[in-house]
Amino acid sequence: MTEPSAQPPTAQSIDEIIRSALAELESLENLEAVDQWRVSYLGRRGSLTAVLRSLSSLEVEERRTIGARANQAKITLEDRLEDRVRHINEDALKRSASRDRLDVTLPGRPALAGRLHPTTKIVREICNVFVAMGFGVVEGPEVEWDHYNFEMLNIPKGHPARDMWNTLWMDYEDPAGEKAMLLRTHTSPMQARVMESREPPIRVVVPGKCYRYEATDATHEWHFYQVEGLAVGEGITFADLKGTLYEFARKMFGEERQIRFRCDYFPFVEPGVDLSIDCFACDGDGDGCRICRDSGWIEILGAGMVHPKVLEGVGYDTGKYTGFAFGMGPERIAMLKYGIDDIRHFYANDLRFLRQF
Ligand code: PHE
Repeated sequence: MTEPSAQPPTAQSIDEIIRSALAELESLENLEAVDQWRVSYLGRRGSLTAVLRSLSSLEVEERRTIGARANQAKITLEDRLEDRVRHINEDALKRSASRDRLDVTLPGRPALAGRLHPTTKIVREICNVFVAMGFGVVEGPEVEWDHYNFEMLNIPKGHPARDMWNTLWMDYEDPAGEKAMLLRTHTSPMQARVMESREPPIRVVVPGKCYRYEATDATHEWHFYQVEGLAVGEGITFADLKGTLYEFARKMFGEERQIRFRCDYFPFVEPGVDLSIDCFACDGDGDGCRICRDSGWIEILGAGMVHPKVLEGVGYDTGKYTGFAFGMGPERIAMLKYGIDDIRHFYANDLRFLRQF
């Protein structure tokens, strides 16, 4: 860099400024340095600017030649400045391009795909079997009234059968002191809700979540699903129940399945039964079979003919209408079907389990 001189400019001093300016410029590698360079030569107090200012002190003749040279010098410096800036920018671009280069041949990271929960899958599978037989699918509230969960199902207050369902009660104060709220212990409250809202013929299945105040173990969860079934109409008999559930058992567990009914008690059906299928693991042999525990049979659901008290409760003519109902635990169905040994796997959110379905 050349200090602005007080001496009148000469062709030599201008050439000198250009030479040193250009030499300096070539070595500059970043835009800040280039800008400093611009200020020191071409800025308001830059050395070339000083030369241009002092032209006025020259004789007319000299002013013309020296002036032309000085102006040419300014143009040269400005041009080279522009070149340098472009060079620096291109350089930076090249460097970053080679640093951040995208290797299109690298294998990509696979996108994580979600999937249906095994409970959702089995619930849909169960419902589809019944849909194919003409049933509709409805859902109901998980927070329920005592009225629907018990009363309408022929389980009045104080009835010992209430002990079959360990109930989680809601902290709810009824102004009238009558209504009690709970987490439904089964999907059966939907029986009365559906019958209240329409006339026979009725054919519905009701999938949904249920809750019980229970210690958990390999076969008990405090929350689980059920699929309820209800068919009401004229002339429905136990044979319809039997045929429908036989069809279901074979669709879920194989065409060769046999079924067995045994008496069971639920206050809202009469007669009440539980349904077993012959064991698909040992084909009903039983001996030494871990799945059916030597019995040859596996219990899969509870069922029965809708109790006349339940039909009366919703105002149906019991002389005209009969029906059957059933209820099953889809997790249990899935455990049997897929060989899952612990119901707690379903809701432990362990992807190693969930990914298998
Ligand atoms: N709701 C009964 C239970 O949870 C199952 C059931 C439904 C039995 C319908 C008979 C008829 O145990």
